[in-house]
Amino acid sequence: MAEYIIVKKSQVSLFKTIPFYYHTQNGDYALYKKKGDRLDESRLQKNRYPDLYILDADRDEAMAELIAALNKDFEKKITDGKLKEVRHTLEYIIEEALTPGQENGMNALPETLNILLGRYQNDNQAMEYLRKIDSNSPILIKHTVNVTALTLQFCFFHKFSESDTRQLAMAALLHDVGSSQIDKNLVETSKRLTDEQFKIYTTHPKMGHDMIIQSTDFNTAIQKVALEHHERIDGTGYPSGLKRLTSYSQLIGLIDSYESLTYRAKLFRKAKKPFDTLNLIKEEVLRGKFSKELFKKFTSCLVK
Ligand SMILES: [Fe+2]
Ligand SMILES: [Fe+2]
Repeated sequence: MAEYIIVKKSQVSLFKTIPFYYHTQNGDYALYKKKGDRLDESRLQKNRYPDLYILDADRDEAMAELIAALNKDFEKKITDGKLKEVRHTLEYIIEEALTPGQENGMNALPETLNILLGRYQNDNQAMEYLRKIDSNSPILIKHTVNVTALTLQFCFFHKFSESDTRQLAMAALLHDVGSSQIDKNLVETSKRLTDEQFKIYTTHPKMGHDMIIQSTDFNTAIQKVALEHHERIDGTGYPSGLKRLTSYSQLIGLIDSYESLTYRAKLFRKAKKPFDTLNLIKEEVLRGKFSKELFKKFTSCLVK
């Protein structure tokens, strides 16, 4: 017997040509619209349609259609500078594309990266790194996407040049690639790490850096972010206790801390509200770990 998958209400309007089915009163599925037909716009707007289904056999085609529609939407939001929406869509695309069994979605991701990174030449290599991150830990990929989205928000808000924006987005995507080599349990644990575990964890910047420099295409700025994002300007960071950091490393380091304290911590229920997090980071700023100027710039892009 044919199998059907329910279409999420929020996604109904994104499918263009795929056939839809509905559940009849006698328990069967019947065709609601055939391949190529469009749903009636006014019905869509008023939510006047039953629960809709697609055939399981159409899943790959449906997924490709969905991601293509999301990508189009994503491109438009970037052009319009709708930052919060850019971020939601990016999270959504990556979440959908990385759902196991949806290989077509995964194939559609490079297009998303192309849009995001402005047809950056190294998207294949970046994809491979993203796959590594994802196969090690779903929490880590979500963190990566969030850091990237916040970085874009910062760049758009402060009107960075296109080339700086692209570089920073790529640096954000790759900042924790070294963590893909670390035991998943260590990366995902909600418990405080023991000294021994922490020592292992702190090897990820160097590992990430070593991975990135193997590909000659990523420039020094991107390599340095992987190496320096846990360094702090007062010298209390790791792995080297450096005080002189590139502006990229400082920015991604700040966004990374903010993200870890808010979104990532949500999973471990000790989530902080964004405002509380800013206060926590402010304390770090006052202690000299981050630049005051940078912190101000970051808060202004968050609140406006
Ligand atoms: Fe990190
Ligand atoms: Fe990170």
